[in-house]
Amino acid sequence: MADAQSIPLKKKLEGKVAIVTGGASGIGEATVRLFAEHGARAVVIADIQAEKARSVAESIGSQRCSYFQCNVANEDQVKSMVEWTVKTYGALDIVFCNAGIIGSFHQTILDLDFLQYDDVMRVNARGVAVCVKQAARKMMELGTRGAIVCTSSVLSVTAAQAFTDYTMSKHAVVGLVRAASQQLGAHGIRINCVSPSGVVTPMSKKVGVATAVDVEKLFGPLTSLKGVVLTAERVAEAVVFLASDDSAFITGHNLVVDGGLISMPFFKWEQNRHD
Ligand SMILES: NC(=O)c1ccc[n+]([C@@H]2O[C@H](COP(=O)([O-])OP(=O)(O)OC[C@H]3O[C@@H](n4cnc5c(N)ncnc54)[C@H](O)[C@@H]3O)[C@@H](O)[C@H]2O)c1
Repeated sequence: MADAQSIPLKKKLEGKVAIVTGGASGIGEATVRLFAEHGARAVVIADIQAEKARSVAESIGSQRCSYFQCNVANEDQVKSMVEWTVKTYGALDIVFCNAGIIGSFHQTILDLDFLQYDDVMRVNARGVAVCVKQAARKMMELGTRGAIVCTSSVLSVTAAQAFTDYTMSKHAVVGLVRAASQQLGAHGIRINCVSPSGVVTPMSKKVGVATAVDVEKLFGPLTSLKGVVLTAERVAEAVVFLASDDSAFITGHNLVVDGGLISMPFFKWEQNRHD
């Protein structure tokens, strides 16, 4: 019998042209690579980190992957990046609005630093809205029944003792996705978001989550699913699902990728029964 390694991948994005914001690193980079493996004809990395993005693009191959320097919070830059993609590759089928930042752990409501708040909201909320607007306008102009996926977070459906601004920004992404799905559905454009729990990436390292062991320590006790640690590759698989025809009738959805974290019971019935 053939083992899993030798079974060829069923390519779900054959011939598609995609943009990935924040594709130079972490979840974005893993998704760029998986889009290419799934047969995407071209993947454009839109990011502010030139060196990292170029090296990811080169490792995939310059015919299929390229880099466009772009700050997602700047509408002119995003518009130029979308225009360039369509001029270069002749189409736009998928946009993954994933670029994001996190402020400091200490952003509690009592200590909220509004300079940090503005930075986080500018990239995570405004940046996603800018990218969705420009992507949707271009897809409509081309008559493309495209797919847009946005990265939110498990903090879009729950909250923590810290990261107030980040939590607010990720709730905003879900609101945007719901509103936009109502407005774009008539044009055949789907929009969904993916909401991961903790994953080791350069961003998580900034807030002290540097290894799979750290993720397991922090999130393991909170998840119902045991023996698995979330990776950027697992998140990328959820993004491919939302970007492909596998999810052809799904729009306005927030796909939480959290090993059951948010559905953990408040208490274990068996342990609390007194009969
Ligand atoms: N790592 C986690 O635990 C986790 C969990 C849930 C959600 N997320 C979300 O996943 C997304 C990706 O984060 P990651 O963990 O892969 O982090 P990361 O730091 O590895 O990747 C973020 C990428 O976004 C780019 N970027 C930042 N600001 C930008 C801007 N203004 N314009 C263009 N590009 C910009 C960065 O250069 C980087 O390449 C973010 O939206 C983040 O909020 C991460």
